[in-house]
Amino acid sequence: MTQMPDHPVLVTLRERLARIAELDAPALAAEEIAILGRKQGELTHLLRDLATRSLEEKRTLGAGLNALKLAFEAAIAARRGSLADAVRCEESRDVDLTMPGRQGWVGTRHPVTLVVEEIVEIFHGLGFAVAVGPEVENEERNFLALNFPPDHPAMDMHDTLYLDAQGSTPGAGGRVLLRTHTSPVQIRVMRAGPPPYRVVIPGLAYRNDPFDASHAPAFTQIEGLAVDEGVSFVDLKATLRHFAERFFGSRVKVRFRPSFFPFTEPSAEMDVSCQICGGTACPACKGTGWMEILGCGMVHENVLRNCDVDPERWTGWAFGMGPHRITMLRYGVPDIRLLYGGDMRLLGQFGELGR
Ligand code: PHE
Repeated sequence: MTQMPDHPVLVTLRERLARIAELDAPALAAEEIAILGRKQGELTHLLRDLATRSLEEKRTLGAGLNALKLAFEAAIAARRGSLADAVRCEESRDVDLTMPGRQGWVGTRHPVTLVVEEIVEIFHGLGFAVAVGPEVENEERNFLALNFPPDHPAMDMHDTLYLDAQGSTPGAGGRVLLRTHTSPVQIRVMRAGPPPYRVVIPGLAYRNDPFDASHAPAFTQIEGLAVDEGVSFVDLKATLRHFAERFFGSRVKVRFRPSFFPFTEPSAEMDVSCQICGGTACPACKGTGWMEILGCGMVHENVLRNCDVDPERWTGWAFGMGPHRITMLRYGVPDIRLLYGGDMRLLGQFGELGR
């Protein structure tokens, strides 16, 4: 191999090549354009110009220029790499590799959601399907079809959140509202097809209540409806007792107290022995030893008739309970507001995180 002749052009370019390794990022970018740029690059220009040179110059310059081009490309890439390394190094100076890692958060379902799923699952095992309905309802299904008289105080604006207060005549059935209970879904289920029905209906209900320790304007309910031939109050009591034993444990005591709902007759409220004190009386059960967990009763024959179900042939029972309240009773949560707003100090004790 012959030694590359020292053409003066090559000498200056080699000097610039040697300085590539000292350039900072902006100077490197400028030098790359100045040497290799496709239009004005010095080396590019020389290579393009080679065609016009004498045979002698072609020989002395050609090989040298091509070798320099490769050398520039390699030197620029290498310098760019070490500049990037330096930046990364600078950025990582504040990292203390001996520091313990931060604990990652694992998501979990809300305790009220877990309670809803557990209740639905128990009734599912008894042959109940799940039905749902919209939270925006009309006055007819929320009240009138459920045998509320048109002047019933629950229909008052003080209690019910109407979405078109200025709209249709109060009591005529057409007013649009946020459902005050999940019971209108009973009507939807019965109007959708003939009996028998066995459904549980989880969902949100709304009332014009202040947000205090025991009330929330939006809360969960689970409705139950069983209609068939020959269904009696015995079925209601046996089923709800079974539910309580599955949900609260076999040692739970239950009692039924007479009550009133327009859509059931007779009506009752079911209590379970206090989950906090076991029935010996404590502040959580206000010293009674009992906690009310649901309302229930035999479906009123007017309700069946309003849904074209013949009360001479079909009978049934229904219940409604509040999973927010049941969550509070079961775990001794003193204020319903703790179950809203996603406070991890409370939520972290439940479900997958609490295990
Ligand atoms: N809808 C009633 C309430 O919200 C509960 C209930 C449902 C009572 C079904 C009896 C039968 O208070």
